[in-house]
Amino acid sequence: MLDQKNIDIIKSTVPVLEKHGETITTRFYQLMFGNHPELLNIFNHANQKQGRQQKALAGTVYAAAMYIDNLEAILPVVKQIAHKHRSLGIKPEHYPIVGKHLLMAIKDVLGDAATDEIINAWAEAYGVIADAFISVEAEMYDEAEHQRGGWDGFRQFIVDRKVKESEVITSFYLKPEDQREIASFIPGQYISIKLEMEGEKFTHIRQYSLSDAPGKDYYRISVKREAGTANPDGMVSNYLHDNVNEGDILKISAPAGDFILDTEKTTPVVLLSGGVGLTPMLSMLKTVVEVQPERNVTFVHAAANSNVHALRDEVEQIAARDNVNSFVFYDSPTDEDRLNEQFDVEGFVTGEWLKDHVSIEDAEFYFCGPVPFMKSINRSLKELGVDESRIHFEFFGPKGNLEE
Ligand SMILES: Cc1cc2nc3c(=O)[nH]c(=O)nc-3n(C[C@H](O)[C@H](O)[C@H](O)COP(=O)(O)OP(=O)(O)OC[C@H]3O[C@@H](n4cnc5c(N)ncnc54)[C@H](O)[C@@H]3O)c2cc1C
Ligand code: HEM
Repeated sequence: MLDQKNIDIIKSTVPVLEKHGETITTRFYQLMFGNHPELLNIFNHANQKQGRQQKALAGTVYAAAMYIDNLEAILPVVKQIAHKHRSLGIKPEHYPIVGKHLLMAIKDVLGDAATDEIINAWAEAYGVIADAFISVEAEMYDEAEHQRGGWDGFRQFIVDRKVKESEVITSFYLKPEDQREIASFIPGQYISIKLEMEGEKFTHIRQYSLSDAPGKDYYRISVKREAGTANPDGMVSNYLHDNVNEGDILKISAPAGDFILDTEKTTPVVLLSGGVGLTPMLSMLKTVVEVQPERNVTFVHAAANSNVHALRDEVEQIAARDNVNSFVFYDSPTDEDRLNEQFDVEGFVTGEWLKDHVSIEDAEFYFCGPVPFMKSINRSLKELGVDESRIHFEFFGPKGNLEE
């Protein structure tokens, strides 16, 4: 544990580091990847280019430093990140590498202002924060491996079926090559896929939420093809769509994640999704009707139009039940959609609509989708007075801030 003097140094220098946030973290990654190019097998290159991961990692180190004398207070945040780290295969031996290069970057950017006293205090603080992550992750590694059907690291799965769900979304049904049992999961959780692509120097890892209910002899993921317009096409999603076929092998790590459906609660549940954010919500929908057949469920899905609306039949079948209400929003319906009355509401999901159609007073809200969709839902729920404890969401990338 740090002494009071070092605690004071840390707390007083956090604002300085935050001020130089992007400069320090950009330098940090330059230095780290320069000395350890093998880490480019783990980090997401597109997140790097967009600066998303930069903010996430160093920002969290600073945030954690403010709680250096009470890390317990930020345990939920540590756990959320630890799930991602475990799913990616981050190990204790990686931590000193990050620590060393973060300190080097701080020194580089702050120059003489970073005295030995300050650097030593930060080295100590980083060590304490890293130990907190390492111990939470150790438990997660243990559980992933030793649970029923579990495994360590990446296991080989065969693509048993590849099914086109819409113009942009395709599902992959994955069965273990060794034909042994697979670990169960909690709806909302994801797996990581590690791809070795021909002609690519590095492996690329991406997360995909499990889109079917647990308890099957396969995992299903449903992947949207990320076509770049101004930017390059998404690497892994396009590769999966174009190059991975039935019979091919994919390496995946055991299910992870803390965005999970709480089936202990019996109050109404509202599942809202935009686009491919549908995947964890569908897993939740399928599970809740199985394990809580009496629970009141509202399923709201927003898409541009029927061309990109995936897994519609699956949702419709479930929505035939008395306790399930389903609503489809299209913001750009086609003429055919209008003619066939393929949707319930034209436009976006608004607070006004939510107020009139769901149980604002007591429901649990789960949502996932593009960031503007999530920001809008979050804002509406807050304006309607829904307590944070009833609001749950997942980012399909490094966790951002919905309040910005
Ligand atoms: C927990 C979790 C669950 C997820 N679940 C799902 C799911 O169920 N289904 C699903 O489809 N996806 C899901 N995702 C997203 C998925 O992990 C990938 O991020 C997604 O498939 C895109 O990966 P990619 O390799 O195709 O794109 P990347 O190559 O990673 O590119 C991502 C984006 O960055 C842009 N980009 C690339 N290079 C640059 C550059 N140089 N400058 C600027 N922009 C650039 C691309 O155009 C693209 O839009 C999930 C993510 C998380 C974190
Ligand atoms: C105390 C130290 C660390 C902190 C505070 C930290 C924090 C974070 C945060 C906040 C995220 C984003 C999580 C999310 O919302 O999805 C993340 C992801 C990640 N972390 Fe860490 N991390 C630490 C150490 C490490 C180490 C040691 C490694 C490996 C060398 C590592 C590799 C990664 C990778 C690869 C991702 C996913 C990034 C991506 O997809 O680009 N982290 N980390």
